[in-house]
Amino acid sequence: MDLDLAGKTAVVTGASRGIGLAIAQALTDEGVRVVGGARTVTPELEKASVAAVSADLGTAEGVTTLIDTALTELGGLDILVNNVGGGDAERFQLGSFLDIADDQWLDLFELNVMSAVRASRAALPSLIERRGSIVNISSINSRLPAVGPTGYSEAKAALTSFSKRISEEFGPQGVRVNTVSPGVTGSSIWRDPNGFGAKLAAASGVGHEEFLASITRNFGMTSDRITEPEEVGSLVAFLVSGQSANIIGADVVIDGGTLKTM
Ligand SMILES: NC(=O)c1ccc[n+]([C@@H]2O[C@H](COP(=O)([O-])OP(=O)(O)OC[C@H]3O[C@@H](n4cnc5c(N)ncnc54)[C@H](OP(=O)(O)O)[C@@H]3O)[C@@H](O)[C@H]2O)c1
Repeated sequence: MDLDLAGKTAVVTGASRGIGLAIAQALTDEGVRVVGGARTVTPELEKASVAAVSADLGTAEGVTTLIDTALTELGGLDILVNNVGGGDAERFQLGSFLDIADDQWLDLFELNVMSAVRASRAALPSLIERRGSIVNISSINSRLPAVGPTGYSEAKAALTSFSKRISEEFGPQGVRVNTVSPGVTGSSIWRDPNGFGAKLAAASGVGHEEFLASITRNFGMTSDRITEPEEVGSLVAFLVSGQSANIIGADVVIDGGTLKTM
């Protein structure tokens, strides 16, 4: 399938590793000129982009730096992928809602919701001019409010709702906005020995490897494997291409059959 994306321009947030890096790589492979942002500029991001910007996207200043740099570097934007999210594992507290203070809620909303709000606001004038496209990376947690760290599912539900709102407002002006909601995907969140998955494994009293091996069973997945970041990258490339021209305001789930409801 020809996605016909060559020569387009894109910003991908949270692009130094994991799903964001795979999205940047998928777009670059299609001939898109990508600017990627994260706090750390990795060699992999440098390879997968025409410019990499170091910025804390949990702050308004960081988002402004990224979008301003991208507009200067690229001359305009056709694609915005708001991927940055999750949060730093060492800052997450697991456990009861009663034990979670405001700072966790606020951190999660800044990174998962406000980063997308700010980046979209800054990029939309150019996206409208070029009849471009936005994809927001949410999570199946948006539909599973009692799963995961307190505040994360709520932040992703807000992001999915925001995505729908702007798809309605800007669709008539030619900007398509969609959401991708992954289930468990093999990024550092799960595989890093110091990541969230390792922390969950320790909290459940099992080794990290054993925990990873039992994820599909424990999460009730229909598939016998978790999703790979590259699969999310391919899906996003399709969603920003003309091949999906009438997909607007959708929430596309890629979760190996974890969600059981329709
Ligand atoms: N993996 C999953 O199972 C899964 C499932 C559903 C949804 N998601 C969502 O998919 C997205 C990507 O997740 P992932 O699994 O690829 O995570 P990851 O491997 O932890 O990668 C996160 C990326 O975001 C960057 N980042 C984190 N905090 C940042 C900040 N404050 N400012 C700028 N960049 C920041 C990281 O780079 P630096 O640390 O260098 O800044 C990295 O490039 C997130 O929105 C997550 O919620 C993931």
